[in-house]
Parts: sequence; structure tokens; C-alpha cells
Amino acid sequence: MGFYEERIFPWMCDKMMDAPPMARLTRAALADVAGDVLEIGFGSGRSLAFYTGDITRLTALEPSEGMTARARARIAEAPFPVELVPGAGERLPFDDERFDAVVLVFTLCSVSDPAQVIKEAKRVLKTDGRLHFVEHVASRHPRHRRWQERLNPLQRAFACGCNLNRDPLAIAQDAGLHVELGTHDIQPDFPMFPTLFPVSRCVAVKRA
Ligand SMILES: C[S@@+](CC[C@H](N)C(=O)[O-])C[C@H]1O[C@@H](n2cnc3c(N)ncnc32)[C@H](O)[C@@H]1O
Repeated sequence: MGFYEERIFPWMCDKMMDAPPMARLTRAALADVAGDVLEIGFGSGRSLAFYTGDITRLTALEPSEGMTARARARIAEAPFPVELVPGAGERLPFDDERFDAVVLVFTLCSVSDPAQVIKEAKRVLKTDGRLHFVEHVASRHPRHRRWQERLNPLQRAFACGCNLNRDPLAIAQDAGLHVELGTHDIQPDFPMFPTLFPVSRCVAVKRA
């Protein structure tokens, strides 16, 4: 990883993710999360402020050292135990059926293989455990979608592999999770290019 990925992008990411629209979306997505929780793509630990449920333990998986360097100060202030684990969501270093909940916050856009990450998330969830995510996704509006396709190479280069054109809700359904809450095309009140970043929220259960 180079200077841009490890130093500049984590700083930029923090600035963007701390913006009020992102904070509102994250707060809503994490409000009902509880128990022994895994967050994949923990980044700089921005999510910690938004867990308001009864968290017994948070396992925070993150591959970027630049991100985790920023996360450490936030972890030190967390009101529940947090274990930082280096690694990627495509290959989770955890036993089957370990967690009550798995969380992803604006991360499935950036992983190499989102279907594999959701498959792994399902594997490590207990039966009746829940996957919670909030992600920016492919638009269902054809004109906006075309712009997402055109600009995707630029977005990938600028934002360290982040894609504008993914549909994680469909991936969760294809993985056999039961979607309890699946909202698509939430238009966030971003000051710039909101139509490029429609947001999807999902709560999906692993059934027996
Ligand atoms: C846009 S940032 C979001 C970070 C954090 N979730 C937040 O909301 O502030 C995407 C994160 O996904 C992480 N990431 C990229 N590829 C990953 C992978 N294969 N598995 C897990 N995390 C990954 C990146 O390092 C980065 O921290």
C-alpha cells in the first residue's frame, strides 16, 4: 500500500464519513445492533459513536493499517470491549456461528468480492443472527445508473477501489439471508452528486 492509500485516503475518508448525512445514515443503521458483534471494514472506527444498543463485545476487522492507526484513539474511548483484527472480509478468521450480528458500513463498495464477504458474514453469524448494512449502491434510475457506470473507473481510482454500481441487497438475498428490512435508493442529502450515491439499508436474518 502506498502513501495515498495509507495516509491521504484514511484522512479524506474520515472527513467524508463524518459529514452529517453519513452520520445520520450510520446512526439509523446501528441503532438496533446488539450482542457479540463483528464489524467488517471498521475503517477509522467512526461507527463506534453510533452503537447505542447493548453491545457486549465488538470485533473490528480492517485490512488497512492507515485506517487502524486512526481507529486506535477511538477504541481507547469505547464504552464496550473492542478487539481490532487485521484482515479481509472475504476470508474471516472466525469460527462458524460465532456472532449475534455482523455489520458493514459503506464497505461493500470497496471489497474485492462482495458476494464472498456476505457468504462469510452468513457463515460466522449464529442462527437467527442478523446482518446489518448501510451502503451506497447502484441506482435504479436508468440515467443515474448510466452516469455511475461512466464514472466508476474514476471513483475506483480516487477512492481506493470503491465502486458506484453494486447491489448488495440482491447479493444478500442470493446468499439465502432473509431480508427483514431492505430499503433501496435512499437519496442522501449530500451537497455534491447525491444521485451518484443512492443508499441502501438492510437487516437480514440467518434462518436455520
Ligand atoms: C469507505 S471506507 C468505510 C470505513 C468505515 N466503515 C466507515 O464507515 O467509516 C471502506 C473500508 O473498507 C475497508 N476494506 C476494503 N477492502 C476490504 C476487504 N476486502 N475486507 C474488509 N474491509 C475492506 C477499507 O480499508 C476501508 O476501511
